[in-house]
Amino acid sequence: MADYPTESDETLANLLHEQRRFAPEAGFTAKANATASDYAESDADRLAFWARQAERLDWSQKWSEVLDWSNPPFAKWFIGGKLNVAYNCLDRHVAAGRGGKVAYYFEGEGGDTRTITYAQLTNMVCQAANTLTGLGVTAGDRVAIYMPMIPETIVAMLACARIGAPHTVVFGGFSSDALRTRIHDCDARIVITSDGAYRRGKAIGLKPAVDEALLDCPDVRNVLVVRRTGQEIDWTPGRDIWWHESVELASTDHEAEAFDAEHPLYVMYTSGTTGKPKGILHTTGGYLTACAYTHWAVFDLKAASDIFWTAADIGWVTGHSYIVYGPLANGATSVLYEGTPDTPHQGRWWEIIDKYKVSILYCAPTAIRTFMKWGAQIPAKYNLESLRVIGTVGEPINPAAYVWYRENIGHNLTPVVDTWWQTETGAIMISPLPGVTAGKPGAAMKALPGIVADVVDDAGAPVANGSGGYLVLKAPWPSMLRTIWGDDDRYVETYWSRFPGLYFTGDGSKKDEDGDIWLLGRVDDVMNVAGHRLSTTEIESALVSHAKVAEAAVVGAVDETTGQAIVAFVILRSEAGDGGPEVVQELREHVAKEIGKIARPRQIMVVAELPKTRSGKIMRRLLKDVAQDRPIGDVTTLADSSVMDQIKAGMLGGA
Ligand code: WTA
Repeated sequence: MADYPTESDETLANLLHEQRRFAPEAGFTAKANATASDYAESDADRLAFWARQAERLDWSQKWSEVLDWSNPPFAKWFIGGKLNVAYNCLDRHVAAGRGGKVAYYFEGEGGDTRTITYAQLTNMVCQAANTLTGLGVTAGDRVAIYMPMIPETIVAMLACARIGAPHTVVFGGFSSDALRTRIHDCDARIVITSDGAYRRGKAIGLKPAVDEALLDCPDVRNVLVVRRTGQEIDWTPGRDIWWHESVELASTDHEAEAFDAEHPLYVMYTSGTTGKPKGILHTTGGYLTACAYTHWAVFDLKAASDIFWTAADIGWVTGHSYIVYGPLANGATSVLYEGTPDTPHQGRWWEIIDKYKVSILYCAPTAIRTFMKWGAQIPAKYNLESLRVIGTVGEPINPAAYVWYRENIGHNLTPVVDTWWQTETGAIMISPLPGVTAGKPGAAMKALPGIVADVVDDAGAPVANGSGGYLVLKAPWPSMLRTIWGDDDRYVETYWSRFPGLYFTGDGSKKDEDGDIWLLGRVDDVMNVAGHRLSTTEIESALVSHAKVAEAAVVGAVDETTGQAIVAFVILRSEAGDGGPEVVQELREHVAKEIGKIARPRQIMVVAELPKTRSGKIMRRLLKDVAQDRPIGDVTTLADSSVMDQIKAGMLGGA
């Protein structure tokens, strides 16, 4: 946490200049789902508030107690309650006569489209549930899903939920190594994948990565393969099964069994401060309650008329909560887009909004900064009048990007919801409420009703308005992670030991003069690159795993487009030579292969020494100064204070 003061003071100074305010529009407020009194009502009785939100779902057995916090930090919500997540997302809408309503408009990257109604999706999920059961999957078994952005990914997740088998979705951009580690960690026995995925017009193989991962996963019995690209793939008879030869032929009759409110729903891996990713465990009743409530309140969802689009990957928590579980629990119609924003042209997103009359858009600030770079003339060519709420997630949004988004995408009218949350929180925690909150560009504003957030100092005491500190959550919430899969101690240690009794988010933040919350980025060794969480240690480990590397240190440097960018400093082994451009390129590719393309360093600097404290801890703060080309900070704690001069003077290579 040594990095905290330098980084955030700088950010703070920039943010303090921001004075623009966007008051809610009266017409919007009159019809808004959320009201100003929601805060007072939830403050008066938080548990009663969450109990009311849980009524959004159909329970086959009602709970007897809202929260059991007798063994903190291990929470249980809606004790004794029973429900089925897939039933709540599908069957109950069909039973209520809304089977013909569109659940997803799927837009393939190449322009192929599919319209899937709630009735159709229910049948598909029942077929997949029957197939999984036929493969011996029973409640509690883990299933790994490694898929592109296609409807079958959603079907696979819901089929798992339906039979009580926790899924672990591994982002399709991750390498076979990352997939293997996750399969091992949660001991998955079945993998669902596709032959490949379309990316920028090309068919990219996914099945080959599964084959490679499984060389070292003897316990995986079967691989269920969706045909998406039709490309050539290797086939292991007996193990591999085509989706279209199994799921699509299976019975559409399937009775959903109700599970305990605390039954595990999924494990989502996320980077921690050590190299080993953390399996964040979410459970059934509380998670779905918070997804449904936040999706309704934060986006002002009117299920009958809105077209909702979360432009994120299903492989991240944003996709889980706001492409799949929240929207389906609320019976909404969503867009699912497979590809990149610039395929085949830079107006693709706006073309999609125009085509489907999307009314709510949810995306990452990094995307907005990219669109800013491409220019406002591109969205200006499309009709975006249908948009009425636009949101962001994943990293702090710079005031300039917020205002650009509002002006150019939100026709200078729509509320912008800057939503703060984490894989661990399961659902949005801090956000403006459209129609209620006057927006401040760059501020996530206030904890939602039912959530208690604060900014505290080193000793855990709340800071005064106008000051910065650490963001904490002060009371348990329904969609909180229940533990780290298989590692209760790490759960306690990571989140609950920095400030006893408080959940530590790992984020620095500030309360402004009004007490509103501004996020200032991570205070630990986790980077946020284009909204993706990556650990410095994980990338260092990947670099050091290369035969030419002796030592590596990775920092996140401020980047105009991606928020942070990965900059690596490496010491080469002597036999590797002096580190020309080919070596640097080789190392970049090595990281991409080990972890995934998103982890490929923007820049690798070959150095002779790394700055270390006497206890041997690498001082990343100083490397960050170099990476950002700013004056080097205090070097007095360095074991050898001349190292920084050597690094600055003797940079041997770069890319
Ligand atoms: C960051 C994504 C500022 C933060 C849902 C957090 C944000 C991490 C915001 C979680 C925001 C997320 N403003 N920072 N609105 N939203 N973050 O687990 O550092 O992928 O701790 O979850 O992203 O990333 P994760």
